[in-house]
Amino acid sequence: MAIRLGDEAPDFSADTTQGPVNFHQWLGDSWGVLFSHPADFTPVCTTELGAVANLSAEFAKRDVKTIALSVDSIDDHNGWIPDINETQNTAVDFPLIADPERKVAALYDMIHPNALDNLTVRSVFVIGPDKKVKLTLTYPASTGRNFDEILRVIDSLQLTANHSVATPVNWTDGDDCIVVPALSNEEATEKFPKGFTAVKPYLRITPQPNK
Ligand code: BEZ
Repeated sequence: MAIRLGDEAPDFSADTTQGPVNFHQWLGDSWGVLFSHPADFTPVCTTELGAVANLSAEFAKRDVKTIALSVDSIDDHNGWIPDINETQNTAVDFPLIADPERKVAALYDMIHPNALDNLTVRSVFVIGPDKKVKLTLTYPASTGRNFDEILRVIDSLQLTANHSVATPVNWTDGDDCIVVPALSNEEATEKFPKGFTAVKPYLRITPQPNK
């Protein structure tokens, strides 16, 4: 069954390169990014895991924990990590889930047999501190993901959660935001001391509140 936005992220226990993990316990009160890749010792995956490791400080700044998954074994993961570190000039500091029995992959519908035979595709799940799924993405094996975009979405999600703003097309950190429709003009006046501009009654622009 497909996982939809707003669903509770399914809980699981699994072996990882950092020891056994119970997913919900491991997340604690943090945000999380669970992402699958097709296989160890493959080129695109090597660059992706290196990129996530190199963005480690950016994820930490946002209180986001990252965890990767493929259907390979712990031994394979542990054999591959030095290659990632060497070729991507990094130090992988997040856990890789070993899922040789495809239990987590099945739980999260990460295997799309018409796309990739018996291997996980490139799935991403962003999970909030309430354990609810906030974003899902599915990429094909041949296309490496853009983890800067995933950070951008997390910034937007956190602005909505903490400051009642949405973000417009192609928004990047520091750009103006949009007052969520749920707020009345009176509420918006109170909430946004920098004010807002009503371009239309339904399109109200305000400077990014946390800048
Ligand atoms: C890769 O990571 O390079 C890859 C993995 C599986 C299929 C195609 C590419």
